[in-house]
Amino acid sequence: MMRLAILISGRGSNMLRLANVVATGADQTQIVLVAANKPCQGLDSAAGAGLPTQLVDRHDFADKSGQEDALAEAIEAAGADWILLAGYMAILSASFVDRFRDRIINIHPSLLPDLKGLDTHARALSAGYRRHGATVHLVTPALDDGPILLQAALTVSRDETESELAARVLALEHALYPFVILALAAGDLRIIDGNPHWRPGARSIELADTTISDVLKKTVIWP
Ligand code: GRF
Repeated sequence: MMRLAILISGRGSNMLRLANVVATGADQTQIVLVAANKPCQGLDSAAGAGLPTQLVDRHDFADKSGQEDALAEAIEAAGADWILLAGYMAILSASFVDRFRDRIINIHPSLLPDLKGLDTHARALSAGYRRHGATVHLVTPALDDGPILLQAALTVSRDETESELAARVLALEHALYPFVILALAAGDLRIIDGNPHWRPGARSIELADTTISDVLKKTVIWP
């Protein structure tokens, strides 16, 4: 059983997508906490979906480490053993990352190591990239730099706008992130000494409303 804490700061579409998928595999995964560092749409959506929520607002603490300590305590009190970052817009300190070593996962809207940081879609377009996508990776203290678990790529269309590209990448994210979490839950993906190990042929996990392998089979990039 994977007990998941999901950290968000905004819209929360990846969180909701994970929640929908987790509900289909209730014997293997459970969301025990959705936490946000500021009031946001995603936290309201999580509460509306009946998930346990907590606001750990940076403004309620004297400094960043006070907020992170409270966040870590909430995660531990909820009994989470994995932390999923899903649009959590704050850089976690090395001490927080060490406290949950090899147990924090992030999704980033680019093909890392390209385009770390913000505004990835605009930067991909202005640099003339023909290939773009999303990455699920383990979190280490360096920003957007941990071991890659899985990536999904698409071809950038001629004359595509930033919002069109963002929407297409987000659709990939919504397939990619649950795929990785279900693979972990099923033992198809293991983290050993901080490195991902995929079971050969582990691409056929099916979700209730879509076959992930159909979405990803042409686009997936294995580490
Ligand atoms: C996603 O693009 C994710 O990759 C990035 O932040 C965005 C969050 O979107 N880290 P949402 O809040 O899940 O809708």
